[in-house]
Amino acid sequence: MLTYIVLLGPPGVGKGTQSKFIANELDLPHISTGDIFRANIKQGNELGKLADSYISKGKLVPDDVTIALLRERFTQPDCKNGAILDGFPRTPAQADALEILLNSLGGRVNLVLFITAPAESLIERLAGRWSCRAQGHVFHERFNLPKVKGVCDIDGSELYQRDDDKAETVLNRIEIYKNQTAPLIQYYTERKLLTEVNGIESIEAVSTEIKSVLKKVLPSG
Ligand code: AP5
Ligand code: MG
Repeated sequence: MLTYIVLLGPPGVGKGTQSKFIANELDLPHISTGDIFRANIKQGNELGKLADSYISKGKLVPDDVTIALLRERFTQPDCKNGAILDGFPRTPAQADALEILLNSLGGRVNLVLFITAPAESLIERLAGRWSCRAQGHVFHERFNLPKVKGVCDIDGSELYQRDDDKAETVLNRIEIYKNQTAPLIQYYTERKLLTEVNGIESIEAVSTEIKSVLKKVLPSG
């Protein structure tokens, strides 16, 4: 069976953190469009340069570019049983494109986990976040410490602070989220796919809540 789970929520709410947990639980790939853009920025290629011109300002990368990127990612063999989608879709146009794409693969969105937390927590989480250069694993200087300062527990690569986690850019990202991404709450509520998860609790407590949602919603979850 094909399984597609979307993680929706504002910047810093814990989409990446919980996606890694769900991907492990369900043995599905974790696809973060933000991580893919950052890998291209690191390579310095044309896509990276284009993405950087938007990401550095906290703006969304244009829909056509992002949709083409996801379509390409879905052709990889690790996506044969589905995927955990972190940060895609982010606009109704992306959600429409996803529906068409999944239809063509014989699947559909099975569940949208909408994680929530107040703005002050988001800012605190992003200000203290350290991400790994190799694969985007995330840590926090207070809430999720790496075993060795500056080193990723999982793959040993260097931890760094994202440029777009500067206070000013974070506020832009939250505004853009409210204007362009929040309409997806209604979009997926109307389709009876949305489950809200309280993201203010500890990382472990949020994972436990998600695990119980997966059990209810997915026959084999
Ligand atoms: P993206 O990388 O997706 O950024 P984002 O949505 O802003 O989300 P973040 O990655 O900042 O936060 P998160 O929810 O993953 O939180 P995390 O788990 O790291 O996108 C970046 C940019 O790329 C966008 O601005 C846009 O320009 C572009 N882009 C990407 N996708 C696009 C698309 N589809 N269309 C167009 N443009 C696109 O957690 C944050 C911190 O908090 C960590 O330090 C973590 O350890 C900690 N933490 C997590 N949970 C908890 C908890 N429960 N308690 C305490 N601390 C916690
Ligand atoms: Mg993330």
